[in-house]
Amino acid sequence: MDWNSLKAAALGCKKCRLCETRNTVVFGEGNPSARVMFIGEGPGKTEDETGRPFVGRAGELLTRIIENGMGLARKDVYIANIVKCRPTVEQKGFKDRPPDPEETSACSPYLIRQIQLIAPEAIVTLGNPSTRFLLQTSTGITKMRGIWSHYNGIPVMPTYHPSYVLRNGGEKSPLRRDVWDDIKKVLEKLNLPIPG
Ligand code: URA
Repeated sequence: MDWNSLKAAALGCKKCRLCETRNTVVFGEGNPSARVMFIGEGPGKTEDETGRPFVGRAGELLTRIIENGMGLARKDVYIANIVKCRPTVEQKGFKDRPPDPEETSACSPYLIRQIQLIAPEAIVTLGNPSTRFLLQTSTGITKMRGIWSHYNGIPVMPTYHPSYVLRNGGEKSPLRRDVWDDIKKVLEKLNLPIPG
């Protein structure tokens, strides 16, 4: 499936129950030929309202990582999630939750095809669900982060999810240092300069 057909299929998708409560499908955004791809878990409230990935509080932190930490623009990279519609506790629309296995297996073919089409030189998985899904592991992010793994030959760098960083100390979180260390490894892999 090419990019346009894939997007059209995702926008009309009814493969799992998340379609019943979504406002928008959050397909992903950025450069379809990006050198680096970021993968989160699923849209939150703001993402569901706007149709764009990572635009809420966690998104603001991710944007700062990309722009200030990496010296790139959001439009240079590609940002996607494992599931394209917002999962909430009992689908009541209040509290976000990670996608369940049924939702993940219904939706993941979209992500898998996105990765094939983009063919990035590196993938950054944000948090447990995307790391576990892509690397087919049950090991937690604390052990996985900072260490290169591979998905179909593509180097994968797992790091903490920005929401997790915000929940654990926010702007002053010591986890930010870890994320920065992980991101530096990605810059090195891509032969990109490390911003001073
Ligand atoms: N968290 C995610 O994992 N993805 C988003 O798009 C927003 C928040």
